[in-house]
Amino acid sequence: ETVEWEAASYDMGGHDTYMHKEISEQPDAVDRVLRGRIDDRFSTVHLGGLNLDPREARGIRRVKILGCGTSYHAGLIGAGLIESLARIPADAEPASEFRYRNPVVDPDTLYIAVSQSGETYDVLAAVQELKRKGARVLGVVNVVGSAIAREADGGVYVHAGPEVCVVSTKCFTNTVTAFALLALHLGRIRDLSVADGKRIIEGLRKLPAQIQEILEGEEDIKKLAAEYAEAKSMMFIGRVRGYPVALEASLKLKEISYIHAEAYPASELKHGPLALIEPAMPTVAIVPDDDLLEKNRAALEEIKARSGRILAVAHRVQEKADHTILVPKNEDELDPILMGIPLQLLAYHTALALGRDIDKPRNLAKSVTVE
Ligand code: AGP
Repeated sequence: ETVEWEAASYDMGGHDTYMHKEISEQPDAVDRVLRGRIDDRFSTVHLGGLNLDPREARGIRRVKILGCGTSYHAGLIGAGLIESLARIPADAEPASEFRYRNPVVDPDTLYIAVSQSGETYDVLAAVQELKRKGARVLGVVNVVGSAIAREADGGVYVHAGPEVCVVSTKCFTNTVTAFALLALHLGRIRDLSVADGKRIIEGLRKLPAQIQEILEGEEDIKKLAAEYAEAKSMMFIGRVRGYPVALEASLKLKEISYIHAEAYPASELKHGPLALIEPAMPTVAIVPDDDLLEKNRAALEEIKARSGRILAVAHRVQEKADHTILVPKNEDELDPILMGIPLQLLAYHTALALGRDIDKPRNLAKSVTVE
């Protein structure tokens, strides 16, 4: 049976690339990360391998998340989820930086290592250094039994299934969803109310169908990609929860299309990058319907005033934008899980229009297991 599952996973299943297959698998993949973990009775989730009892969970003073590339971006969203749902100060840092700066290791901090492969050397080395100094380290990992999963004190498997394409898509989405589960779990041990727990659970349950709805808009995104593929450079902006989405979308575009892309917090535009805005530099803006909507709209106006082209990813049509990709609304905290998905398709179709080798982009390896 195991052999059959493995063989089926590596089959392209009618798709032209693994990337397309993996993007399309996301409704099922997210369903898998949720399966068997939701506890409606206490409006919480059970995470079997966490190895963290409630008393220890209450004693955590900070959370520090470490990962590289896409996993680092997933960690940034994870930190936001932990801060908002569990009210524990949390941040994320590239593991590759952390391990070289002789970090102060604090016994009341929970460290979380994030990795699809579980083999990335910079992350593994950071985990080993932390363990050597007596820290508690959890893993949020895809590959079961991988080096980081074995080295960690416990953790959450993200159950995305095998990811073959060098660029990560379904694993990013599942990792962020796994962080939502962890944040809900920690939140319900601490001060998150039953009502808020229920609200997040309902939001989580909506995700697979909402992802499916986004994927059904692929033809429209393909048309947009044909238009934006001519750009030499693109700007991605977002605010607070939207900023890591912008970072990840810009990385995806760079990795497979080789178009230069920058990601900035929308609030930082006026502190410098606005100088780059002109018709030849389109901006992709993450504009969720949340408490920052008006602030985001002000940024769109600033860009329009400089004749910049705008593609918005939003919950309602943005008048200042030249195009809007609409995504279904979820709970504010969970919106980042959905807003990145159309931008995976945008990167994919842009790279396809440019004739790139999508599954094996130049100069990159699936997992970087060396220094
Ligand atoms: C993702 O598209 C990249 N290829 C890359 O940034 C990757 O996320 C990074 O190397 C970390 O890999 P890991 O998740 O297997 O640790």
